[in-house]
Amino acid sequence: SQGAAIDTSPITLTRFLLEEQRKLPQATGDFTALMNAVQTAVKAVSSAVRKAGIHKLYGISGVTNVTGDEQKKLDVLANDLFINMFKSSFLTCLLVSEENDEAIIVDSEHKGKYMVVFDPLDGSSNIDCLVSIGTIFGIYRKDGGGDAKESDVLLPGNKLVAAGYALYGSATMIVLSTGNGVHTFMLDPAIGEFLLTEKNLKIKPRGKIYSLNEGYEASWDKPTQEYIKSKKYPENGKPYAARYIGSMVADVHRTLLYGGIFMYPATKEAPKGKLRLLYECNPMAFIVEQAGGMATTGKQRVLDIQPEKIHERSPIYMGSPEDVQDVLDSFAKHK
Ligand code: AHG
Ligand code: MN
Ligand code: MN
Ligand code: MN
Repeated sequence: SQGAAIDTSPITLTRFLLEEQRKLPQATGDFTALMNAVQTAVKAVSSAVRKAGIHKLYGISGVTNVTGDEQKKLDVLANDLFINMFKSSFLTCLLVSEENDEAIIVDSEHKGKYMVVFDPLDGSSNIDCLVSIGTIFGIYRKDGGGDAKESDVLLPGNKLVAAGYALYGSATMIVLSTGNGVHTFMLDPAIGEFLLTEKNLKIKPRGKIYSLNEGYEASWDKPTQEYIKSKKYPENGKPYAARYIGSMVADVHRTLLYGGIFMYPATKEAPKGKLRLLYECNPMAFIVEQAGGMATTGKQRVLDIQPEKIHERSPIYMGSPEDVQDVLDSFAKHK
């Protein structure tokens, strides 16, 4: 029948969070409200992405950010949207964004208990050619009273209360974990709501795909070179397939769904790799671990790194546990 096309009891992201919140006697509803700010910003970015051409949002802003990236117009727009939605939620006290040199301390009128680290637009180099891009966020609770200061957010990823990402792909999706598994929500543009598409997403124990920028092979470390060689020229069985989009969110999302490994290793030129620990590596590592995967630097668990600077970088290998274990074995061999 015609009526069957419309779900009269959809599980929206907000409804899902309200139900989770009911299970915790101490919950105040603040987290759900903070996630509403995220949802609004994601919807606005999604809409901007879909009309980027019409609205002349392609191209560069003319500014280079603190980690040396050329800012695109969409980087700036997404950053402004997230900052404004976070501040006006009255729920945050400190924000760290890829696009701001220093941590943003929220004024006392607007401040709340959460600290948010985020990459407003991930995969900038893919904007102008219409390839998938994303947003990454991590949420910490600030302990103790007093005004927030930058050092308060120098916390290892194992202290995250929640993390997630939005993927602006062939559809727009939010993938979220509050430390209780990974759940995915697809944007239904007709009603402007994120609807639960998968509860408790789990990664495969082993995949058949490796994903990294192979152009830099000559300057990788030995363990990475040997690991990739073993996947391309296996002693038995078929070689792995290579897939690399160049947007971390999209590459990690594929890794979660299809299995395999995503990596951004150290290179001679960039001894800590390229990806930034606070707002790229940690939130994505949190999600991958919550899905049953692993995330390592080759030497230690990513989520256990004690950060020293808000924009610091880390090498990263993440994905299916058996694939990541192969990388660890390669590192152990070359110790
Ligand atoms: P951002 O667009 O937020 O600056 O991040 C870019 C990152 C990441 O998305 C991707 O995995 C990586 O850069 C790609 O780097 P290479 O071009 O060196 O492969
Ligand atoms: Mn950038
Ligand atoms: Mn990024
Ligand atoms: Mn970015």
